[in-house]
Amino acid sequence: MEQKAWLILVIFTCLIASSCGRELKVDHKHKLPVYNHTLATILVEYASAVYISDLTELFTWTCERCNGLTKVLDFQCLSGFLVHLFAFVGVAKDLNAVVIAFRGTQEHSIQNWVEDLFWKQLDLNYPGMPDAMVHHGFYTAYHNTTIRHGILHAVKEAKEFYGDLDIMVTGHSMGGAMASFCALDLVVNHEAKSVQVITFGQPRIGNAVFASYYAKLVPNTIRVTNDHDIVPHLPPYYYYFPQKTYHHFPREVWLYSLGLGSLVYRVEKVCDGSGEDPTCSRSVTGNSIMDHLNYYGVDLMCQEWRSCRIVMDPRVAEYGKMDHKGNFILSRAPATRVRSNEGEVKASA
Ligand SMILES: *[C@@H]1O[C@H](CO)[C@@H](O)[C@H](O)[C@H]1NC(C)=O
Ligand SMILES: *[C@@H]1O[C@H](CO)[C@@H](O)[C@H](O)[C@H]1NC(C)=O
Repeated sequence: MEQKAWLILVIFTCLIASSCGRELKVDHKHKLPVYNHTLATILVEYASAVYISDLTELFTWTCERCNGLTKVLDFQCLSGFLVHLFAFVGVAKDLNAVVIAFRGTQEHSIQNWVEDLFWKQLDLNYPGMPDAMVHHGFYTAYHNTTIRHGILHAVKEAKEFYGDLDIMVTGHSMGGAMASFCALDLVVNHEAKSVQVITFGQPRIGNAVFASYYAKLVPNTIRVTNDHDIVPHLPPYYYYFPQKTYHHFPREVWLYSLGLGSLVYRVEKVCDGSGEDPTCSRSVTGNSIMDHLNYYGVDLMCQEWRSCRIVMDPRVAEYGKMDHKGNFILSRAPATRVRSNEGEVKASA
């Protein structure tokens, strides 16, 4: 009982003193993003839809998860990209935006993947950003794959067809890491304006210098973390070596439950601009995989455990093309519906 009272007191103190850390501050003099709950709950549906294994359903936007979404939005799938990691690009008319969504890694065991995250080294200099270090594997998962080319192509195509649209990039877990690299790429290398990012349960991807560059270049970024989700705690952040370790970029929004007696409140805490707010997810132990797999009540995993393998109808396969690396790219021209043996086939590679 006494312990519980103490716990509540600590939480309240943290809510009041929202920025009590004395740590290396990421430069954040620029405008900070505004957290929009409605938008986050829409984008989490897209981040979830990308886990659908049946590509036919996704491509024709007829899956159960998509149906819920279609009521809200008229979504057209432009391209799906199929490698060991998977993403789609589409135009959400209600958002007046191109939505790019990345899937997380769940091909094998998520436990193994999480354990592996402990040992990621900062072993790559982000090109063109002195002293900005990232993890080679995270970087290449986006940059050295067909995904990148396909996404850039689809974004270009959507803009040509629909005019100037906002770009919203989202992803869960490893998909969140890829979403961040994608957004940065669009801003740095493709002069994209109004790029917005919301990721869910993403790991750290670079050091403090990288976080600082990122925050300047893609200021409109929200990194949602959920309760005790382990992944945002990885690779580890070492308080005493702020320059040497991984460092999150801002702005975190931490979802957690606040229990007062028999009442439980869900709190969405908008964190400070440092990226490593000690009063947000860092104030608890990251020890939950369950908390990693559900955000805002939406499941972020393949429907059947261990069956993330992508399947598709031969009819849909006609819209696809295999590249020399064995990646499969599906692409549909804007404003065409999939009909058997009809519709324009557009190759992206
Ligand atoms: C939040 O996002 C929704 C969906 O895009 C939008 O309709 C709404 O205007 C936004 N709210 C604010 C305050 O920007
Ligand atoms: C990406 O791939 C190219 C060619 O396959 C290689 O030369 C380059 O070093 C790779 N980049 C990274 C960061 O691994």
